[in-house]
Amino acid sequence: MKGLLLAGGHGTRLRPLTFTGNKHMIPVANQPILFYGLRHLAEAGIRDVAIVLGPIREGIQERIGDGGAFGLRVTYIEQGPPRGLADAVRCAREFLAEDPFVMYLGDNLLQQGVRPFRELYERDRPDAVVGATRVADPRRYGVVELDGNRILSLEEKPAVPRSPFALIGVYLFSPSIHPIIERLTPSRRGELEITEAIWNLHRAGHRIDVQRVEGWWKDTGLPEDLLEANERVLQSMPPGQFERQGTVAPGAAVTGSVGIGADTKVAAGCSLEGPIVTGRGVAIAGGARIGPFSALGDGVAVVGAAIERSIVLEGARIEGPIRLRDSIVGRSVTIRAGPGAPRDLSLVVGDAARIEL
Ligand code: DAU
Repeated sequence: MKGLLLAGGHGTRLRPLTFTGNKHMIPVANQPILFYGLRHLAEAGIRDVAIVLGPIREGIQERIGDGGAFGLRVTYIEQGPPRGLADAVRCAREFLAEDPFVMYLGDNLLQQGVRPFRELYERDRPDAVVGATRVADPRRYGVVELDGNRILSLEEKPAVPRSPFALIGVYLFSPSIHPIIERLTPSRRGELEITEAIWNLHRAGHRIDVQRVEGWWKDTGLPEDLLEANERVLQSMPPGQFERQGTVAPGAAVTGSVGIGADTKVAAGCSLEGPIVTGRGVAIAGGARIGPFSALGDGVAVVGAAIERSIVLEGARIEGPIRLRDSIVGRSVTIRAGPGAPRDLSLVVGDAARIEL
């Protein structure tokens, strides 16, 4: 069995904001989103994985290389402009050959991983396995209408959904999907839709198993989704994964699960309440308070400020008497608050911004 991890598409767009680099490399609990997909494929016993790249791919090949660090053999496939998820499969046709494969959308996070998909496939040998879960707003997703586990209809982002069940971004296909994809034509939004390919597979009499997804699942298309994913990952990390390196001065208060990276310094008078992860070379000083569900990237400095349930990317500096919550702060951002600044703020700030309050 092979793996296909999609990291193409509109590379940088984390609606509604633009970060530099590729959106799949934005960290959740200090790990690029794409790494979770790679680990899940490896945990399901898959060794050969192709990563689909679009026009914007900064950081992906540099960080993942040949995949050895993940126990994988990774190759890269050029898709070029995003022409749809089924088009990505078409581009990978030679790599996939006649093997069954798991397709994992690189911006998805799935607590249960993909092993249950593989187990279902090995047991029943269907032509495809798709995952479905109940969501609040199905119009954002591919929607599957079910009678028990029987598929009644499948539609991509319908204006009037017939069911509350979304297709999650993890699929398992046998090679019978390829001739179906060859016959697809672009949808109204100009893409070759995998949802339509699955529907056509079903209509051609092939067997599709629906796996009800237990545990949480997140499509990280919106900033709030990223914050929620960050919270969920930190919450479910076993205590042993929060490594304590760096130095915590006597007189600093650290409670709960707190990961402290190498060369990180927590000064006296500061407090950290887990779950939190901090990267390398982070400086926490001036009575700063870091609250639960926060992830601070390498080289971040927080001086005198409070941070809660936020993601702060590498090299950002937050200084002064403010409390940031539910915020995403981009790489190398500076936020400096003076005495008259508002106390409570929730911000989503793209890379390299400078904010004086
Ligand atoms: O997240 C689940 C949803 O993912 C499903 O419910 C939908 O049925 C499915 O179409 C997909 O919808 P999205 O609108 O979220 O897909 P998006 O364009 O965001 O692309 C998903 C991932 O695939 C993302 O990591 C980028 C990558 N991609 C996307 C396109 C269109 C590619 O690599 N190539 C592409 O051409």
